[in-house]
Amino acid sequence: MELLAAHLQELAEQIEAYPVSSRSELEQFKAYFLGRKGVLSAYFDRLPELPREERARWGRQLNALKEAVLARYERLRAEIEAREAQQSPIGDLSLPGRRPFVGGVHPLTQTLRTIVRIFTRMGFAVAEGPEIETDWYNFTALNFPPEHPARDMQDTLFVDSEVLLRTHTSPVQVRVMERKPPPIRIIAPGRVYRNETISARSYCLFHQVEGLYVDEGVTMADLVQTLQVFARHMFGPSARIRLRTSFFPFTEPSAEVDVSCFLCGGTGCRVCKGSGWVEILGCGMVDPNVFEAVGIDPERYTGYAFGLGVERIAMLRYQIDDIRLFYENDLRFLRQFPIS
Ligand code: DAH
Repeated sequence: MELLAAHLQELAEQIEAYPVSSRSELEQFKAYFLGRKGVLSAYFDRLPELPREERARWGRQLNALKEAVLARYERLRAEIEAREAQQSPIGDLSLPGRRPFVGGVHPLTQTLRTIVRIFTRMGFAVAEGPEIETDWYNFTALNFPPEHPARDMQDTLFVDSEVLLRTHTSPVQVRVMERKPPPIRIIAPGRVYRNETISARSYCLFHQVEGLYVDEGVTMADLVQTLQVFARHMFGPSARIRLRTSFFPFTEPSAEVDVSCFLCGGTGCRVCKGSGWVEILGCGMVDPNVFEAVGIDPERYTGYAFGLGVERIAMLRYQIDDIRLFYENDLRFLRQFPIS
């Protein structure tokens, strides 16, 4: 028994002294003591040779040695891994992978794409024009009188007395009609700029989608029908529209269009401020003076036009209450709009 005790004592020392400096030596170490032909296994195998009353005591001692092997094994493994992590030029290979950052589509772009898709399906082509415009395209050709308040420095960002940042997408109407005889059926999405005080409701730039349809015999009924179809596709099958008379220099008659509040269905809520309706666009029949300016015969042709605000629609669609959120590029905001 004394001899056995001495052997086990020696084994305990060997367990701590066994040289390990690599992963393969670590595995050798474990196998040497605990493998099927290992040192400790041999002792376990011979336990039955001991007198019955001695077995439990020595069994416990052998188990303690086995635990010592496993404890050192774990300790060394952690050390080796930490060392490898430091040495690896690309960091700790044992860490779990990082999800790659996938970009999204900006909520304004998503809304713009939806609007464009609805109109192109109805047969509208997409037209574009410059964001830096002349006074002629932005105002004069659109029948703005010389002293019209919209030309005021307060609203318009001028480059010089003749050149400015367009304040709406309506100049694209002029550019298209100048280039091509009717029939014309286009939408013109794009950025517009205004010299306004920045607040939750207005920003120095925003987006519009212009619409223009010119042909023989185009009537206000065509306009209403087209906008009704648009509203249903944009806001859902139960959406209704209403027209309120209004004024724009380039249309006569002119109207502003409201859509029934898609949130409350018309009963009144926070989004529609209790009225059941929200304004989404301006429209009207193209003024004969505009046709004259681009050389289209107003006796032969008629047309309708409309201009809608993309931010407005996106804010309604997503219930966003501050327009500035679109332009701050705060990822906490943007991540709420997964790719659609
Ligand atoms: N250009 C107008 C604006 O920015 C919107 C508009 C109203 C466009 C009526 C139109 C229209 O084409 O017919 O406020």
